[in-house]
Amino acid sequence: MGSRNVLVVGSGGREYALCLALERSSSVASVIVAPGSAGMSTRWKCYDIKTLDHTALLSLVDREKLDLVVIGPEAPVVEGLVDTLQQHGVAAYGPSAAAARLEASKVFSKKFSQRYGIPTAPFQVFTNPTAARTYVRRLDRAPVIKANGLCAGKGVVVSESIEHALSAVDAILERRAFGDAGAAIVIEERIAGEEMSIQVMCDGERMLVLPSAQDHKRLGDGDVGANTGGMGAYSPVPLMTKALEEKVRKQILEPTIKGMQEEGQPFRGTLFAGLMITPKGDPYLLEFNVRFGDPEVQATLPLLDGDFAEACYQCAKGELQPDVLRIANKHALCVVLASHGYPGSVRTGDRILGIKEAEAVPGVTVIHAGTRKIEDEVVTGGGRVLNVVGVADTLQEARDRAYEACGKISFDGMHYRKDIGARALKAVG
Ligand SMILES: Nc1ncnc2c1ncn2[C@@H]1O[C@H](COP(=O)(O)OP(=O)(O)O)[C@@H](O)[C@H]1O
Ligand SMILES: [Mg+2]
Repeated sequence: MGSRNVLVVGSGGREYALCLALERSSSVASVIVAPGSAGMSTRWKCYDIKTLDHTALLSLVDREKLDLVVIGPEAPVVEGLVDTLQQHGVAAYGPSAAAARLEASKVFSKKFSQRYGIPTAPFQVFTNPTAARTYVRRLDRAPVIKANGLCAGKGVVVSESIEHALSAVDAILERRAFGDAGAAIVIEERIAGEEMSIQVMCDGERMLVLPSAQDHKRLGDGDVGANTGGMGAYSPVPLMTKALEEKVRKQILEPTIKGMQEEGQPFRGTLFAGLMITPKGDPYLLEFNVRFGDPEVQATLPLLDGDFAEACYQCAKGELQPDVLRIANKHALCVVLASHGYPGSVRTGDRILGIKEAEAVPGVTVIHAGTRKIEDEVVTGGGRVLNVVGVADTLQEARDRAYEACGKISFDGMHYRKDIGARALKAVG
């Protein structure tokens, strides 16, 4: 056992998966979480501290003699938690608030991409609703409208018509549906293709490219229905060939890391590139996130061999040795089990059965995302309740394992997509 004490900041399925990967790391002695969740508290000590409460987090760091803090969600890094921790001398995995603008401001990231010739949809920025409406009326094709700031995944409208786009302009810029996050908008061209992502761990200068992943955002099979936080993911994506990954690296990832460094804001932490791959096979950057994707990372971490905690530590210190992790020749697939009503108003408190039986399926891990414990029973406590992850030598087998395990779990109102990874399997035949 190692000697490193690690704190994970966050409370969802992503953070649960991070805890598992950190715990597997040979350099780690202990893992604790803030604020964590009921599901996490059965395995790791959780401290009920708000992520904005830097003072309380710093005293936890001292009290528990922490050597590394890994931050899961975007809000704490955007609010400067990494800056605070690093100033205090603690290794914190994640970007500075300045570097986090790559996610926190779509205007910043689009202009940054333009400065460095990174392929991204042509765009214009507006703060004035009249000017925005005039621009939209002159377009031949329905555009994508994006609120500038963080909107918890709800600030983007891929419009179906010019009328629809105009109403999105009104909602965001005029009526301020997202408050100040919508004080400016990006209007961009819609790009057709296959959407996927690549996550890289960076130390400001060097990077470690993790396997590609594909999320399934829509609620229903066949990509229909409401948008969600993500209903499942698999990794790697067959369409992301070595050659295409090389293009993404050369055209998007390397210029970004270099550009941020040149601008005096070196990027440390996870850079998540949301990509659209055109039918011709060219990658376009849709957006950056500055943290691991949820549920993408649940399907990515199981493919990494080596000391994940050490990789995070090296990134935080600006001394990444990219061979600290190796990518195993395996596949992983994650299915999200959602509660009654998700993604609308959800019902909680439904008793969950079969988690043990699901975990008994070879290669399967059950991750708690939104669960609660009432006495000795595990019940639903959020919209996305559990993530069932299957790992195997092939995508087909990873998928079979995950779905076999899903079949063993039940709770009132449970629903999940039955087609995670199905299109990819069809594509590879
Ligand atoms: N230029 C574009 N062309 C086509 N689809 C897009 C475009 N930009 C965004 N999208 C779609 O909208 C979704 C949300 O946009 P994104 O920029 O990722 O914002 P966020 O994740 O912050 O809501 C994307 O996952 C993608 O499906
Ligand atoms: Mg996105």
